[in-house]
Amino acid sequence: MRPVIIAANWKMNTTPGDAGALARTIAERTREPGVVRVICPPYVCLAAVRDALEQEDVAVGAQNVHHELAGAYTGEVSASMLAGLATWVILGHSERRRDAGESDALIGRKLGRALASGLRPILCVGEQLAEREAGRAARVVADQLAGCLAGHDPAALMAAGLVIAYEPVWAIGTGRNASGADAAAMTDDIRATLRAGGWGSLADGVPVLYGGSATAANIGEFLAQPGIDGALVGGASLKADEMAGIVARAAVTAAARAAAAG
Ligand code: 13P
Repeated sequence: MRPVIIAANWKMNTTPGDAGALARTIAERTREPGVVRVICPPYVCLAAVRDALEQEDVAVGAQNVHHELAGAYTGEVSASMLAGLATWVILGHSERRRDAGESDALIGRKLGRALASGLRPILCVGEQLAEREAGRAARVVADQLAGCLAGHDPAALMAAGLVIAYEPVWAIGTGRNASGADAAAMTDDIRATLRAGGWGSLADGVPVLYGGSATAANIGEFLAQPGIDGALVGGASLKADEMAGIVARAAVTAAARAAAAG
């Protein structure tokens, strides 16, 4: 049985002065059984969020990590620096692919760094609008997966708790979410890609999240799909009301899965 995961990506929002209070409010309002909760604040807010969540069953994640462990990389943050601050890390977000020019090969190196450091990776993939309109979405995502995962051992990635987030770029921050059916079709394609890429039946155990304008109002459309295991939430994750609604709906799916598993 795959877990149900709701991860908050706060992106470049909040400050060390207000992040802890927001994290605590969200934690208090999302205490639902069976849902794995993760909050990923900016680097400089990690300590405040970690401290605020000390008594809560909510994990803390970073939004990125450097592919080297130390050295002359001005402005960067290494995996060893995150020790004690974060236990999860988002990798390959489309905003970093776009703004920092991250390639699949580079993201693959970051993945290796996360694994070596015991950080649980959320690997982001997703197509651009023009790629979807050209009927190339599945090919693009398969190529991203192949590029990011090349050289990594599926069993090691499973042991590290790899999570994949399908985030169609055209749905991020636009208020225009994918349909549940389209997102589910892509999660099927993602697992088929893994299966064919040497993962075999391990592919069925990888949690796949949806991301892109996910809200309390539309989360049900995604969580009704058996192949979708939760969401990576951007804008709505900064609002406690939205998170309360999203996690409450996720708890329904988690309970249904637990009942079905006996
Ligand atoms: P929005 O929910 O704001 O569209 O962002 C999604 C996202 O990029 C999460 O990583």
